[in-house]
Amino acid sequence: MVPEQFRALVLEEGDGKPRASFRTLPLSALPEGDVLVQVVYSSLNYKDGLAITGKGKIIRSFPCVPGIDLAGTVVESASPEFKPGDQVVLTGWGIGERHWGGYSQMARVRSQWLVPLPEGFTLEQAMAVGTAGFTAMLCVMALEEHGINRDRPVVVTGAAGGVGSVAVALLARRGYHVVASTGRPELHDYLRRLGAAEFIDRQELATPSGRPLESERWGGAVDTVGGDTLASLLRAMSYGCSVASCGLAGGSHLNTTVFPFILRGVNLLGIDSVYCPMPRRREAWRRLAEELPADLLAEMTTVRGLSEILDLAEAITDGQIRGRVVIDVNR
Ligand SMILES: NC(=O)c1ccc[n+]([C@@H]2O[C@H](COP(=O)([O-])OP(=O)(O)OC[C@H]3O[C@@H](n4cnc5c(N)ncnc54)[C@H](OP(=O)(O)O)[C@@H]3O)[C@@H](O)[C@H]2O)c1
Repeated sequence: MVPEQFRALVLEEGDGKPRASFRTLPLSALPEGDVLVQVVYSSLNYKDGLAITGKGKIIRSFPCVPGIDLAGTVVESASPEFKPGDQVVLTGWGIGERHWGGYSQMARVRSQWLVPLPEGFTLEQAMAVGTAGFTAMLCVMALEEHGINRDRPVVVTGAAGGVGSVAVALLARRGYHVVASTGRPELHDYLRRLGAAEFIDRQELATPSGRPLESERWGGAVDTVGGDTLASLLRAMSYGCSVASCGLAGGSHLNTTVFPFILRGVNLLGIDSVYCPMPRRREAWRRLAEELPADLLAEMTTVRGLSEILDLAEAITDGQIRGRVVIDVNR
């Protein structure tokens, strides 16, 4: 039975900050799309925090339902690719930004955006991964394709956050010596359980040195922080190694010289999860289901209700969230 109404978080344009309200809406309020999904879970990402708090200009047209991820069951489909009953996952493609997203019990979306629930994952586990975990896998894939040195430590910045936690677990599982950069020493035990072998205080990486190059230290890096941290990673990369740059939790600027590139052949790899093409997307999800141990995914995940989302949005933009948060849209 397709429900006639659904509950969603709706953002409307406000003065400086969007106005957020929980609403019960008719199905006819949903935007266009060829597949109707009954959403079960969404997740909390840094971008969702920026959208809801208004700390970043994420929402492109109001009113909008935020939530850049969703997982649920198809209830109607005009696409031959999907039929009612199929379990699906959607991350990115502009949902929760340009198109209504996952903080809702129902979503109407384009079939080209959907990935069938990867074999081995439940809907809850898929959202425990979400955009953050998917991005972490894209980083690992890019590093392994472009240059990573197994004999040197691999550093993950913003390690206790969502992308960081999944990256630590994936890299450790693949046998790398993972150094976790975090500003929260109280989370060292948590990161050790995910597989971190060593720690570096995030302040140490965020301090500019004034030198164009440092001693070769890192065999690879996943950077979620950007700014002075990314510049510092580039200065200390080993010959021919790569940094996967995916985030800006510490800033969007980048003050560097060309020396890491022209003297050490260092690669700066840009990672985008939103418009990642479908074949690579499916491959990343397949590998996540295969390589990310279920116990570690559970260790880094908490499930919270959609009714708590406004506080969670503040918490993630303040750097206070540990690991991943799954959002139960029926709670
Ligand atoms: N390119 C893409 O497609 C893509 C996809 C997903 C996410 N991202 C970006 O990746 C970043 C992380 O996303 P997320 O969902 O993992 O967020 P998150 O869970 O909030 O993690 C971010 C982590 O960064 C660290 N951090 C926060 N503020 C900082 C500051 N001022 N200076 C240095 N470190 C700081 C904290 O880690 P510690 O407490 O351990 O220090 C925090 O847990 C965000 O910038 C997000 O926009 C990009």
